[in-house]
Amino acid sequence: MRGKPEWLNILIQCKNNVQDKINPLIRTLNQPQPNLGIGAGGDPLKKIDMAAENAIVGTLRKHKLAFTLISEESGIAEYGEDPSQCYVTADPIDGTTNLTRGVPFYATSIAVSKEPSLNKIHTALVTDLFHGTTYTAQKGCGAYRNSQRIAPSKNTSLEEGIIGIDLNSYEIQKIAPKLTALIGETKHLRHFGANALEICYVADGTTDAFIDIRGKLRATDMAAAWLVTKEAGAIMTTPEGKQLDVKLDPKQKVEFITTANEQLHRKILCLIKPRKEKT
Ligand code: IPD
Ligand code: CA
Repeated sequence: MRGKPEWLNILIQCKNNVQDKINPLIRTLNQPQPNLGIGAGGDPLKKIDMAAENAIVGTLRKHKLAFTLISEESGIAEYGEDPSQCYVTADPIDGTTNLTRGVPFYATSIAVSKEPSLNKIHTALVTDLFHGTTYTAQKGCGAYRNSQRIAPSKNTSLEEGIIGIDLNSYEIQKIAPKLTALIGETKHLRHFGANALEICYVADGTTDAFIDIRGKLRATDMAAAWLVTKEAGAIMTTPEGKQLDVKLDPKQKVEFITTANEQLHRKILCLIKPRKEKT
């Protein structure tokens, strides 16, 4: 490809292709599925995840782009003459369990950066594949939902707010004590099962916070949503309140707190702080 790629248009073509390629497969999900082994992110590979990844790669190849793919499914793969000029971080389907069980909440997530680190992402797209809602962001240009500019909510009350917490963990004993004080202050707790989309829900004011401190979520799942959240004006930090930056790699894990505004962020940080034992 000559000239600068129009990344936003290319990502939109990628998600359209994902949609086209997975639609016929959705109708066959009730039939026995082939065993494809384990994906780079550590989960069993499913035919539908691979079809989505192939759709993304196929679209990028059609544009004759040179890039390094960092994907939850096939891991790291290099394409074209100078693959280090661009990194495409993808979770082809976020929320595969929802998709395979018929829960209407799953997404495709794609982020583009010049270097393989979260803070270098310049263009991002997350599409809710069931409802056809697309979140996009470009560095310094704001975040959009179906081309309408988005902003997070102004709610600062934990009691009034919708607070998302991912509690899916094999080590719930470890994380539960850190979360009990926060859970005690909330009235509307949620986890829908596709973290990329749940972060975008904070970005557009649908919910007020989303927290994942399990140490289990892959950076590939939240890379695109990170830019959407940042460009929308929401806050995302480490559980200690520090700036978030991680290497983009299929095995990289990440913990974070996303909130609609500073005030809510401070309240949540305070509640999940490790408590001192009473003597
Ligand atoms: C999963 C979803 C889910 C989260 C899991 C992720 P996947 O993504 O984001 O909400 O609890 O930890 O693995 O596996 O469907 O891409
Ligand atoms: Ca996935």
